[in-house]
Amino acid sequence: MSILVVGGTGTVGSHVVRGLLTKGEQVRVLIRSADRADALPFGARAVMGDLRKPETLRWAMMGVDRVFLVTALSPMETEEGLAAVAAANRAGVRHLVYLSVHHAERAPHILQLKSKVEIHKALRDSGMPFTLIMANDFFQNDLLYRESLLEEGMYSHPIGDIGLNRVDVRDIADAVVTTLTQAGHEFLCYPLIGVEILTGLDVADIYSRSLGREIRYGGNDLEVWEKEATSTVPGWLVHDLKLLYEFYQRHGLRASEGDFVLQEKVLGRLPRSFHTFVRETVTEWERDGAREHAKAV
Ligand SMILES: NC(=O)c1ccc[n+]([C@@H]2O[C@H](COP(=O)([O-])OP(=O)(O)OC[C@H]3O[C@@H](n4cnc5c(N)ncnc54)[C@H](OP(=O)(O)O)[C@@H]3O)[C@@H](O)[C@H]2O)c1
Repeated sequence: MSILVVGGTGTVGSHVVRGLLTKGEQVRVLIRSADRADALPFGARAVMGDLRKPETLRWAMMGVDRVFLVTALSPMETEEGLAAVAAANRAGVRHLVYLSVHHAERAPHILQLKSKVEIHKALRDSGMPFTLIMANDFFQNDLLYRESLLEEGMYSHPIGDIGLNRVDVRDIADAVVTTLTQAGHEFLCYPLIGVEILTGLDVADIYSRSLGREIRYGGNDLEVWEKEATSTVPGWLVHDLKLLYEFYQRHGLRASEGDFVLQEKVLGRLPRSFHTFVRETVTEWERDGAREHAKAV
């Protein structure tokens, strides 16, 4: 079976590519520039294409049975996703699995969630079998905060006080691999959620315990966050993330019992815990620190 991964060089897609190769599947990865091919794992075949250039997708999808689609955050996300759905449908793809967001439909004023809802609709209208993977906030977003955690003792992801069932991207990837390689997941929608409800203070506390020193939560002031973010994040994304964090702070992003029942059907086990992720991550950072130290002496 030939499976095309769109977004296979990214956070979730790279785990999916490795998971599919482990299962012995034929994996193609859509890449936008030839130099990305070198980073692909052994056995994955690169195919050139760009969601912003729909004419390139015809060739990329030719002879493909299944597609895993990630749409990267972009002001063009809707158009990119719709182009991928149309190209897959035209190519006779038998099943498309799409990475979406837990409860995306609850906040259509946020561009990245509105895009998801429009892509869901296109999938429903296409008649092509599809599966939606509705992921909560990734644990791995915290890797972006490594410097502020280690150097300033601060956790500055302003997720608020109500709480999110954040999730490990490795569990998302495992669920995606299952839906792509086993029958029975067509036209279904799976939440991907962690077991702990995590607030900003909880996360800071868990890092404090693993690092063995105090980590403060940066707080819920989004004006302060915006000022910091503006130096590294494009303006449209600062605006959209600010809306997302306002939503998290007002409503949280919590899972229901029904969500866990659905997740069990695709994951077949409990998801990884945030405590374990933090322990692994801190161990990794300590190893990096020791290596840097050894190089310097
Ligand atoms: N972060 C979270 O907490 C969270 C939670 C739930 C859902 N999500 C959703 O997850 C998605 C992002 O997933 P991710 O973090 O795994 O992505 P990522 O790490 O940002 O990687 C994006 C991937 O898409 C590729 N790409 C970007 N633009 C493209 C284009 N025009 N044509 C073809 N490929 C293109 C990139 O290729 P290059 O290597 O060329 O850049 C890369 O492989 C978003 O839709 C987001 O809303 C995120």
